[in-house]
Amino acid sequence: MVERAFIITGTSRGLGFEICKQLIKRNHTIFALARNNNDFLLELAAQKDCSIQFVKYDLQHTEGIPALINGLINQVAKDIQSIALINNAAQVTPLGRIDCCDPAETVKNVQTNLLAPILLTQSFIKHTEQWDISRTIVNVSSGSAKHAAAGMSLYCASKAALNMFTSCVQIENHRSLTIYTVDPGMVDTDMQTEARNEEGLPLAAFFREAKESGALISAENAAKKIVRRLLGSSGKG
Ligand SMILES: NC(=O)c1ccc[n+]([C@@H]2O[C@H](COP(=O)([O-])OP(=O)(O)OC[C@H]3O[C@@H](n4cnc5c(N)ncnc54)[C@H](OP(=O)(O)O)[C@@H]3O)[C@@H](O)[C@H]2O)c1
Repeated sequence: MVERAFIITGTSRGLGFEICKQLIKRNHTIFALARNNNDFLLELAAQKDCSIQFVKYDLQHTEGIPALINGLINQVAKDIQSIALINNAAQVTPLGRIDCCDPAETVKNVQTNLLAPILLTQSFIKHTEQWDISRTIVNVSSGSAKHAAAGMSLYCASKAALNMFTSCVQIENHRSLTIYTVDPGMVDTDMQTEARNEEGLPLAAFFREAKESGALISAENAAKKIVRRLLGSSGKG
């Protein structure tokens, strides 16, 4: 019997890859969404008798998200104990002063970081409303939601808005729904590389120093914390 189902975005690399890897277990069913596949996850799932499906999707295509989620949820066995959505996918770009950011890239940032998690949350809640099981939504946020940074206005603003969105949905008190944000800290992923290599970004030197001094958290350890809390909040582990 499948006990838990998870929809995880941004599983091809970084934190989402590690979260997905740690959730691969017998009796789990996982929908791993990204633009690029990661064969390692599929191979590991096969070894561990875990049901996994790679969902190739670009979250910038926000108009297709409601139908996508409906389709995934319809595939989940109705006798599961819990279902969770982990909104992890995000992009830090475009970086730089706002007048230097390309308008099309600006739209992509808000689509991926904010509009997609909003629509995923909305569809997830709607399509599982009648299910008498534990439902959890984890929105991966950032310290940038609370700390204004020159050259990072889009990333900071999208994460701040995601926090407020989550707080509002929390107090709507949906039946058997737990929704919260997590700030993973500074994690050693491609996103950090992009930020520290961005010439002209005032915080780039700070990000370089964090990498050089060993202050970055490994994706594996950051994922452990998220997975521990998730399994704790959605029934027995
Ligand atoms: N790294 C940090 O220091 C840090 C700090 C605080 C918060 N966070 C947050 O942690 C989460 C994970 O970040 P990360 O550092 O692991 O980032 P990352 O290494 O850049 O990985 C981002 C993931 O999101 C996916 N993704 C990006 N755009 C997408 C799109 N349009 N459609 C579908 N998938 C998309 C990517 O897959 P594809 O490219 O294959 O689509 C990739 O799997 C993000 O929410 C980030 O804001 C990170």
